[in-house]
Amino acid sequence: MKLLYSLFSRRAFLNSLIGGWLAALGAAFISPLLKYIVPPTREPDQVSVPLAEVQDLAAGSVQGFAWGNKPGLLKKAEDGSFIAFVGVCTHLDCNVSFVAEKRRFYCACHEGWYDENGINVAGPPPAPLRRLAVSVEGDALIVKKQG
Ligand code: FES
Repeated sequence: MKLLYSLFSRRAFLNSLIGGWLAALGAAFISPLLKYIVPPTREPDQVSVPLAEVQDLAAGSVQGFAWGNKPGLLKKAEDGSFIAFVGVCTHLDCNVSFVAEKRRFYCACHEGWYDENGINVAGPPPAPLRRLAVSVEGDALIVKKQG
């Protein structure tokens, strides 16, 4: 039945409503499938961090940087050198943060702890944080995959 001044019939309205709902449902199923088939961007082989950004970092403190789509953690050692880690927990891939008071890395997901050298010391993490190689080239720190 079409109303006197309606632009479309009740049937057309219900068909488009159901069609839209089915399209949204289909997108909800296809989207994770596409993410599985086409994996997210690869991890970079190296990243460059401007030395000026980290030069004034106090010894023993940590600054984050982008390691591709993952967090990276750059720690300035007591001797002025830099140590870098992938800031992702080795248990179930949660992000790790540095707790300056305890001088340890902490994963809040399941209370995992790593010492300041990235070694797993408490909680469920099965392995140390993944370490990255750091070198100074010109006015930049080059952070690379190790090995
Ligand atoms: S994901 Fe970090 S402790 Fe479980």
